[in-house]
Amino acid sequence: MKFSPEQVPEHIAFIMDGNGRWAMNRGFLRLRGYEEGAVSLRRITTHCRELGVREATFFALSTENYLRRPRREISFLMRLLKTYLVKERDMLMDNNIRLTTIGDISSFPADVLETLHETEILTSENDGMVMRLALNYGSRQEIINAVRALCAEVRDGKIDPDRVEEISEDVFAAYLADPQMKDPDLVIRTAGEYRLSNFLLWQSSYSELWITDELWPDFDVEHLDEALVAYVNRDRKYGAVLDPASGEASGSNGI
Ligand code: IPE
Ligand code: IPE
Ligand code: MG
Repeated sequence: MKFSPEQVPEHIAFIMDGNGRWAMNRGFLRLRGYEEGAVSLRRITTHCRELGVREATFFALSTENYLRRPRREISFLMRLLKTYLVKERDMLMDNNIRLTTIGDISSFPADVLETLHETEILTSENDGMVMRLALNYGSRQEIINAVRALCAEVRDGKIDPDRVEEISEDVFAAYLADPQMKDPDLVIRTAGEYRLSNFLLWQSSYSELWITDELWPDFDVEHLDEALVAYVNRDRKYGAVLDPASGEASGSNGI
């Protein structure tokens, strides 16, 4: 499907859910679903790039998954991540995509960290699109980390304690996991759950939400296009009323 550049969201965030169900439905082990999910990830990443999306963020592992899933599943995911990164280097380079991550990866195995680091360095000059993997990511943890970092700046005298009123939304956002991240225009969740599961809570305040019953391994380019058609037809009002003449959201104070 064709979309004009101004119709395409600059940033799409994906909650890649339903890998386990996809596998169980076929009588496979859940792990098979993760492998198939990785295939879907590649397909959707390249489609985002073709569409002209500037940032695509993928929720691959939550802090809660990391804590609560069986160790066997987590170590399988670690191996899969490593293989995936090596396999996708050509795809990232051919498509001019920069890979980056958010989340606490400090306890990941050393070889996985090394592969991640190498891939980030390799793709660091690519400026076609950012592919951001959320790994052991939790939004509440991210917000707490930002508060801690801000408090430390006050403690260390970098922020004047008498001027804390100047801590605006923009100032605060600069302490979040990726200060370069634009708020997502569209958040897509697969597998039919109507919740955010601790994903980008601050950043998705005004994101459009699209929830589909398709399980992540089945989520294909036409499903993404379907989400975009819906997105294009939404009115983003940001709490204002739409001006009937221009169709733009504007308030009496002009913002
Ligand atoms: C989401 O798929 C991906 C990860 C958490 C790694 P699930 O594993 O949650 O799949 P379902 O929800 O059990 O089907
Ligand atoms: C959210 O899916 C996390 C990822 C997709 C990585 P979950 O399957 O962990 O979410 P819940 O447990 O259903 O809320
Ligand atoms: Mg799930």
